[in-house]
Amino acid sequence: MSLHQRFSFQNGAALLDKAGQLGIDIPFTEDISVLFEKKSIASRTLSNRFAVHPMEGFDSHTDGSPSDRVFRRYLRYAAGGSGLIWFEAASVVPEGKSNAHQMMLTGANLGQFKQLLKKVKSSARQTFGPNHDPFCVLQLTHSGRFSKPSGTPKPQVAGLIPQMDGDEPSIKIFTDAELDFLQGQFVESAKLAYSAGFDAVDIKACHGYLVNDLLASFTRSNSKYGGSFSNRTRFLLETVQKIHSEIPDLLLSVRLNIYDGLAHPYGFGVSSDGSLDVDLKEPTLLIERLVKNGCSLLNLTLGNPHKKPHLGRPFDRPLVLSAVPSEHPLKGVGRLLQLTAQIQKLFSQIPIVGTGYSWLRQYFPQVGAAAVKRGEVSFIGLGRSSFAYPDAPKDLMETGRLNRKKVCVTCSCCSELIRAGYPTGCVIRDKTIYAKEYSDHFGKGRRR
Ligand SMILES: Cc1cc2nc3c(=O)[nH]c(=O)nc-3n(C[C@H](O)[C@H](O)[C@H](O)COP(=O)(O)O)c2cc1C
Repeated sequence: MSLHQRFSFQNGAALLDKAGQLGIDIPFTEDISVLFEKKSIASRTLSNRFAVHPMEGFDSHTDGSPSDRVFRRYLRYAAGGSGLIWFEAASVVPEGKSNAHQMMLTGANLGQFKQLLKKVKSSARQTFGPNHDPFCVLQLTHSGRFSKPSGTPKPQVAGLIPQMDGDEPSIKIFTDAELDFLQGQFVESAKLAYSAGFDAVDIKACHGYLVNDLLASFTRSNSKYGGSFSNRTRFLLETVQKIHSEIPDLLLSVRLNIYDGLAHPYGFGVSSDGSLDVDLKEPTLLIERLVKNGCSLLNLTLGNPHKKPHLGRPFDRPLVLSAVPSEHPLKGVGRLLQLTAQIQKLFSQIPIVGTGYSWLRQYFPQVGAAAVKRGEVSFIGLGRSSFAYPDAPKDLMETGRLNRKKVCVTCSCCSELIRAGYPTGCVIRDKTIYAKEYSDHFGKGRRR
């Protein structure tokens, strides 16, 4: 019998029973009041523990500026009540975009971003009162191996990974000089983000994109950015240091893969013995240095969505034509929670946003609250759930529970849309737009 099963729990006890059978520790409490406690990030105080994770929409204008769809998405988040809104991956250079419609902040479109921030903040205050000021982070990225700036793949990497790249001759390997230039572009984008009114910028160092690729560039030779731990972490640490010293009032965050799930010498946070075992030695050392260099917030995640999506986003249904994982989704949730807990316990001085909650549907608040109470995480990050149910925090504030009919069902339709290069959102719960687009693109017969 397959170990992978869909969500089928009628109550919290059934969920905990299953976790017990699988030998996984899932924290759980009926008292979710801690999720409405304030929490500080450096000098800022946030009104609650809910965070919208960064989620690319592939729906910006081709100059990177926010379209009406982008405004709609972020205004839905604002009206939903999360204390922290993490804006999606925005490319620092046009060639590093994952799609022609990826977000990108430039001098020319700064005005539109100012407008977006202003509207998001004022709409949140209007709904929740003058003291509710959502903390807005912009994620900065270069898509590296997954760059597709105008529709066709244009991979640009720190080094080749045979199981991802095969013997693809057209892959571009960055020179050190090109990486130096890109580092400057991260700093320039951070300056623009500060002018636009973001509270913080995030350097995306996860999911196999360029900065994550660099952390695992064990095989890159004759380069200050490859080989040893200090070379592999140089790009990220120096970027953080430079942004911190040039824009001291802008807070800094890193979304970090603490386990890539690719065997050595191709994965960060993975044992060097050739197995797929987790080894948090390097991630821990890196976090210690990030904090020293001015990073005041972390968002932890795992895996590579293009290779092993179940590690970072446990789901009921895989993408069409993708394999069903050989583990129970709760195992994936447990791994995300436990590895995050280990880091949060080591670094109690830095707030950490956790990942892995959407698969839990209506029980994510009980699990998240228990994790916060245990000191195992500071903010409950919600990705696909935010597409499906952006007003989950508001419903919890008003009624103390979630509406089962609004929760994310982890069907992977949002991932299928984006993988095919289309604008994305929730096909099940935001039907008026995305159900139609899903069947327009894939045909009515495709399963949901
Ligand atoms: C359509 C889609 C777009 C995403 N875009 C981003 C992104 O821009 N940056 C990022 O760090 N993660 C991105 N992710 C990953 C999510 O932020 C999150 O880590 C993942 O969905 C797991 O959280 P969840 O279980 O709450 O959905 C994306 C995921 C999906 C499905």
